[in-house]
Amino acid sequence: MIGKICGTGSYVPVEYMDNHELSRTVETSDEWIRERTGIVKRHIAKEDTTVSMAVKAAKQALTDSELCEEEIDLLIVSTISSNVILPCTACEVQKEIHAINATCFDLNAACTGFLFAYNTAQAYIAAGMCKNVLLIGAECLSTLIDWKDRTTCILFGDGAGAVVLRAEKGNLYRTVSCSDGRKGTALTCDTGDYIKMNGQEVFKFAVRQVPEAIAGVLKENNLKEEDIAHFILHQANRRIVEAVARRMNVELDKFPMNLQEYGNTSSASIPLLLDEMNRQGKLKRGQKLILAGFGAGLSWGASVLEW
Ligand code: ACO
Repeated sequence: MIGKICGTGSYVPVEYMDNHELSRTVETSDEWIRERTGIVKRHIAKEDTTVSMAVKAAKQALTDSELCEEEIDLLIVSTISSNVILPCTACEVQKEIHAINATCFDLNAACTGFLFAYNTAQAYIAAGMCKNVLLIGAECLSTLIDWKDRTTCILFGDGAGAVVLRAEKGNLYRTVSCSDGRKGTALTCDTGDYIKMNGQEVFKFAVRQVPEAIAGVLKENNLKEEDIAHFILHQANRRIVEAVARRMNVELDKFPMNLQEYGNTSSASIPLLLDEMNRQGKLKRGQKLILAGFGAGLSWGASVLEW
């Protein structure tokens, strides 16, 4: 058995901050941010929390899936920004949506988190341990940002995305999944502190490893670039996505982006994009997609998903 996505949902706070507004608080400009990152604005939680955003995205995904909350038997939240250390965000979401039959846990793998959570869900389903999974990426990164540090505060935003996976007969694709703790200092956030990053190192790492991971996952599954309808990359930076497309020699049209609207929402970025594309009717049954994540750890990977 494999997990097929049968519902998607997402939520971002209504409040947002555009580049012009940001340039009134730190020395930067709309032009600089757009040119270096492609980001135009980011949504920032005022009243919302990681849990409340996750709940709103989850409810939408459940409605879209036509499953009811009691049918969910595994609930995973990928996040680096839970409201509290205990209880985990997944249990808090469970309480709010009444998914009383679910086993719940959080997964922390930064911007690769949603991908690793997706793989975890597939493994649970393949092992016969569960049938219906609610998978959420939710982040309130505005609480982890030093708003006086122009090298990081321009990049990140808040939001949540969710998918429901239902067990069906089907082809279980092989994945590429990697971590390298030796390079962890490139992107850190100490307890009680803010996100710190060596931007250029992260940039180089992403541009090198993501095409390699995608090439690896294509090979593992005997697929070619032309078999893939969309390459859904973690939405960190427009220049990273463009560089990956260039290195792979694949047209940029196959790399959808919404980072201009949301900034980098870490583990929420892939499900946010999936939900947007689903609602816009851009995803057709039977299409093959590749999900690719990369981020702190360092960690990265790619998986094939059949819509
Ligand atoms: N506005 C204006 N100037 C700035 C800003 C800013 N917001 N930030 C830095 N600068 C300045 C620097 O001080 C530097 O000035 P100097 O030349 O006088 O020293 C100059 O701009 C160039 O700085 P660089 O750091 O070399 O700029 P770069 O082209 O590398 O762009 C950026 C920085 C956008 C962060 C880039 O390195 C990048 O995109 N890295 C990838 C990081 C990323 O996406 N991280 C997300 C986390 S990864 C994940 O998602 C987990």
